[in-house]
Amino acid sequence: MNKKVHHEGDGLPLFRQIYLRFRDSIKEGRLKPGDRVPSIRALASELHLAQGTVEAAYQLLISEGYLVTRGPAGTVVSPQIKSAPLKPLPIKSEAPQQSLIHTGETPQPLQMGLPALDAFPTKLWNRLAYRALRHSPIDGLIYPDARGHVSLRNAVAGYLGVSRGISCSPGQVFIVAGYRACLDLICRSLLHSGDSCWVEDPGYFATHHFLREAGANLVSVPVDNEGMIVQSGIQRGSDARFAVVTPTHQSPLCVPMSMPRRQSLLAWAHHQQSWIIEDDYDSEYRYLGRPLPALKSLDTYDRVLYCGTFSKVLLPSLRLAYLVVPENLVSRFAQIADTMHSHCPQLWQVTTANFINEGHFARHLKKMRDLYSTRRGLLVDALTSVLGSRLSIDHQVGGMHLVTRLAEGKDDRAIIAKAKSAGLSVHALTNWYLDAPSESGLLLGFTNVKDREQALFLATKLGQTIEN
Ligand SMILES: Cc1ncc(COP(=O)(O)O)c(C=O)c1O
Repeated sequence: MNKKVHHEGDGLPLFRQIYLRFRDSIKEGRLKPGDRVPSIRALASELHLAQGTVEAAYQLLISEGYLVTRGPAGTVVSPQIKSAPLKPLPIKSEAPQQSLIHTGETPQPLQMGLPALDAFPTKLWNRLAYRALRHSPIDGLIYPDARGHVSLRNAVAGYLGVSRGISCSPGQVFIVAGYRACLDLICRSLLHSGDSCWVEDPGYFATHHFLREAGANLVSVPVDNEGMIVQSGIQRGSDARFAVVTPTHQSPLCVPMSMPRRQSLLAWAHHQQSWIIEDDYDSEYRYLGRPLPALKSLDTYDRVLYCGTFSKVLLPSLRLAYLVVPENLVSRFAQIADTMHSHCPQLWQVTTANFINEGHFARHLKKMRDLYSTRRGLLVDALTSVLGSRLSIDHQVGGMHLVTRLAEGKDDRAIIAKAKSAGLSVHALTNWYLDAPSESGLLLGFTNVKDREQALFLATKLGQTIEN
């Protein structure tokens, strides 16, 4: 028997210590009724104990009704046992509590920000993933490159050149686990605590939360129908070190940033030597005319840090996004990425690279653009016929949700609470403001509205929550 184990006990015989570990795990809900426990032989070998010690502990647990034996199916936690629900993890500090954005719950109808889950080419994807698994060379077995897999960095650089007008080398591309991981890498590489940072108002709350947590001083800059009002930013804090913008489809208003605004933002950043973080999260979805080139494509002074994500064009569960940094920052970012070493699974990186390189991505995007255009039309028609003038819909050329306005006096926060009880997942526009909200409205995802009947059903349900 291993002497080391002996000395680590708290004076109790070893079989008793094992008994207590299992008993407490069962009582506290970490082991649930029906869960299988390791065989006596496997556990004895893992813990370097004699089999008789483990057997004595199991016998005691069985005699007290915690475990039952199931013959060849092994030993399991008794299905009759009552376990306590798991205790929630302690909450860090006295930070103000805000409700969690992502809880892994199945989304309700009208949820914004999700791609069409029924239209994802699952069979093809699984085939590519299986192929990547089978052909995994040595680099699939060792510590991966912290900057991302070379195949995906190449594929992203190629895609951005053709589709977004961005000329960059694969060396400038970093693959990270979602947009917030882009922000994380940027903040760890460039942000000093207390740096001022322009953010759009209204704007994406995850950006606001992240930057605040990272120690930035947020300067809210209002948005109109040409995007961020750069002049207001200059008045409120001309010396900011960062500006975060969503120039293709402003989040959440979906308006594109006008060319004069783009130019004045770039000129300000050049003059101030500040950084622009371009969040180009769903630029692929424009239904009228050609997609607008990225702000980064106009960045002759190299002040733009460009963020893109696969969450909207493939699946959010992949947790794959990319960041393009100016050439002169590459080694700094690489150093920090290497320190963080929080990778995206190589399997999904290689599968995504193959999906792009073999032409499936371009076909998928085209298909989704057509599908979303149809689904958007279905929801617009249904809302217009059911709600008429009680809800006005912004005219917008792209995006994945509708921006709608309520009649004066209607409280969007109260409406979304009622909508939630009715099984709808609707966002209140006022929740996206940092300063005093100027307008009340509802943000409605259309990407998963499958047909006319469903659109009418949802519009009717929504109408009832607005009226009550
Ligand atoms: C404005 C905005 N930026 C970026 C993202 C992408 O985030 P992620 O890559 O973490 O899925 C989203 C997703 O909802 C978004 O709304």
